[in-house]
Amino acid sequence: MATKRHISLYYGSISINRSFRFILDWVQNFFRSNDYCRKMLHEYIKVTYYSEATDIYSYGSARSALAAFLKAYGIKEGDEVILSAYTCLAVPTAILAAGGTPVYVDINSDTLNIEIQGIQKCMSPKVKAIIIQHTLGKIANVKEIVDFAQSKGIVTIEDCALSLGSRINGKLIGSFADAAILSMELSKTLSIGWGGILVVNKTEINGLVKKNYNLLSEKGRASASKDLCQTVISAISYHPSLYHILGKYVLFAGFTSKLFRKSTPTNEFLGLIADDFILKMSGIQASIALLQWKDAQRTIFLTNKNATHLRKLLYGLNIEMPGIPELSEYGVSPRLSFYTNDRSVAVDYFMERGIELGQWFDGPLSPVPTNPSFNYLPGQYPLAEAVAMKIVNLPCHSRITGRDLDHMENVLKNFISENPENIVTNV
Ligand SMILES: Cc1ncc(COP(=O)(O)O)c(C=O)c1O
Repeated sequence: MATKRHISLYYGSISINRSFRFILDWVQNFFRSNDYCRKMLHEYIKVTYYSEATDIYSYGSARSALAAFLKAYGIKEGDEVILSAYTCLAVPTAILAAGGTPVYVDINSDTLNIEIQGIQKCMSPKVKAIIIQHTLGKIANVKEIVDFAQSKGIVTIEDCALSLGSRINGKLIGSFADAAILSMELSKTLSIGWGGILVVNKTEINGLVKKNYNLLSEKGRASASKDLCQTVISAISYHPSLYHILGKYVLFAGFTSKLFRKSTPTNEFLGLIADDFILKMSGIQASIALLQWKDAQRTIFLTNKNATHLRKLLYGLNIEMPGIPELSEYGVSPRLSFYTNDRSVAVDYFMERGIELGQWFDGPLSPVPTNPSFNYLPGQYPLAEAVAMKIVNLPCHSRITGRDLDHMENVLKNFISENPENIVTNV
């Protein structure tokens, strides 16, 4: 049952109109200085979203922002940084880029987040930082972890890459720890293709972050313009009505001709860190990021509305889901997760019907690294490993329409009736 419509996981906050606005913005800001574009972005985020933060910085990616912060904090060889055993390889890569050693903590499989008990087991005098990841819209027990870390003199960083816009009792995540990273990569809630924001909450650390930031380089105008072209062309290509007739061919041509670059360079998967891993966000990226942040409230609202709709649907169908937000939480993620017994069957079934099912994260570390420098010990994180075997995610980003939701509902119901053995139920 082939369909001409394609519901993708990518570029969820960039409509065709928005793509054209990106180009217009690029032309309008062509003669503005890069520093000016970044300053406008930083000020807007601070005034509108993180008014209590000491400062805001923008980088080429969230991993770049994390590495920059850890470096400024003074992480050096032999220092350990605690992180979730259920995450993207970009996170330990940033730790390695800063010169530290990643130490993984297994998750609570209900929340997909790390907990204080797991952290305590990994504590040693070598631990200098803890990364508190809010996973797929489920907010971590951040206050408890921050209090514990403060009592030990350890710095904390919230990783909001998968949960941008989430709140606890009305307070935005990213405001609780000493610092926070937000991602604007192509698969995230608020995207510009590539980009990362660092929120610094702890005043004492800000001086060094600022000093390093001012010395950083950024992409040249030609390379940044090429990235913008890739973002615009990809966002248009992933439009649900264009993907099958044109988009998939354009994307294929872009990647095979190497005109398009991948979200993560292949070398990073091998543990090889490029010299320019830590870069400032370019002026072009910063000006389109500002456009996205000016519309963030709407984007976040729509994303959460779609997730709530799908969550209710899955609940009504008795399908088990991880990370359900509590009443005090406003949990936002560009994808809504559920469990299935055979992921490849589910992914193929949905794909044939025009729905891209995500596989975040298909490994406890995604992808599982081969390089021993990642310090990753397979078999040591059983809960993360069990979750990674069965999780899939439906797109629920802001471009999903009511028509898409209805289609997802039909496909889900048919999947259950045709593959009852493949569904993990909550009854
Ligand atoms: C949990 C988490 N943190 C950080 C990152 C890094 O984000 P970026 O791609 O902007 O470097 C990712 C990337 O997907 C992620 O999933």
